[in-house]
Amino acid sequence: MMAKKDVYILSIESSCDETSMAIIKNGCECVYVTILTQMDTHAEFGGVVPEIASRMHTENITMVFEETLQKAGMTMDQIDAIAVTYSPGLLGSLLVGVECAKVLSLVYDKPLIAVNHIAGHIYANQLERPMEFPLLALVVSGGHSDFILMTGDYEFKHLGGTLDDAIGECYDKVARVLGLKYPGGPNVEKLAREGEHTYELPIPMNDDTLDLSFSGLKSSIINLVHNEEQRGNEIRKADLARSFQDTAIDELARKTEIAIKENNIKYMIIAGGVSANQYLQQEIKKVADKYNVTLSVPRLKYCTDNAAMIGAAAYPLFLKGEFADLSLNASSSEEIF
Ligand code: KG4
Ligand code: ZN
Repeated sequence: MMAKKDVYILSIESSCDETSMAIIKNGCECVYVTILTQMDTHAEFGGVVPEIASRMHTENITMVFEETLQKAGMTMDQIDAIAVTYSPGLLGSLLVGVECAKVLSLVYDKPLIAVNHIAGHIYANQLERPMEFPLLALVVSGGHSDFILMTGDYEFKHLGGTLDDAIGECYDKVARVLGLKYPGGPNVEKLAREGEHTYELPIPMNDDTLDLSFSGLKSSIINLVHNEEQRGNEIRKADLARSFQDTAIDELARKTEIAIKENNIKYMIIAGGVSANQYLQQEIKKVADKYNVTLSVPRLKYCTDNAAMIGAAAYPLFLKGEFADLSLNASSSEEIF
């Protein structure tokens, strides 16, 4: 019998402020990934400026393409398909990646694969070890906080999630009121390590459903900071960061426990930018261990936006022959289902 041919996918991610390309072998092995972040530029403005983001993607994407092929030591002859994030994200940023992918597909005559960004975050776990279904995915990013049950590849069932703000958005807003630099999440986490949980904050939702809500917690912190400033009182920033982080993540851990029990979960993954948070990883691990659930977390580099996860998520679509045509367009819709 002839050995099965290896599949190499060239993948592109440009949905926010990282211009990234990767070559992924058989959906699980990263041959090479280039991640060019614009973080320092946007930090000057306190957040991502969409117009600047898309211009920088345009400037850099061909260079990232050349570098990725060169560092991987490969040529386009060896590539089986081109994958790209088409949704969700900043429209102008997504369009740069989508157009690049369409041109590469046309010029090199390779099939095109459209990948949802959140599916990408989930499949980042495939780069660590094969995912086992059914699994529970906790998706925590700048735009999502969701519990998803996966019964197979691309079989997503939404179990619950935030009714208002995503947890990443909340981290970023808290960072801003505390005067921390963009990107907020990692800076709040760092500061929280130096503080104590001394501020009493409202617990989000506090019920037994899989709904989440972070806007009340966010507003209470904004109000607290403004009130203390008006009274001329000093804010213990590290303590507030710690109190916020404990409150938000303890709620996520508590709801994770409910999701595990209700769905008899044996395998679980965490996905999305906030999965880089060490306290979150630690608290979810405690819950997983309590129920003998195997927990998979992407390595730090694959937690935040990168093209390797897009190549991993493209592989099952490649196997199914689910290809996009050249009419593929970018979309800012938050839907994955
Ligand atoms: O997945 P991602 O890179 O972009 C989206 O798809 O939204 O997630 C970005 C979010 C930001 O809100 C960022 O502050 C947050 O993830 N984040 C973190 C950490 N690293 C990134 N939040 C908390 N702790 C972290 N270590
Ligand atoms: Zn992301």
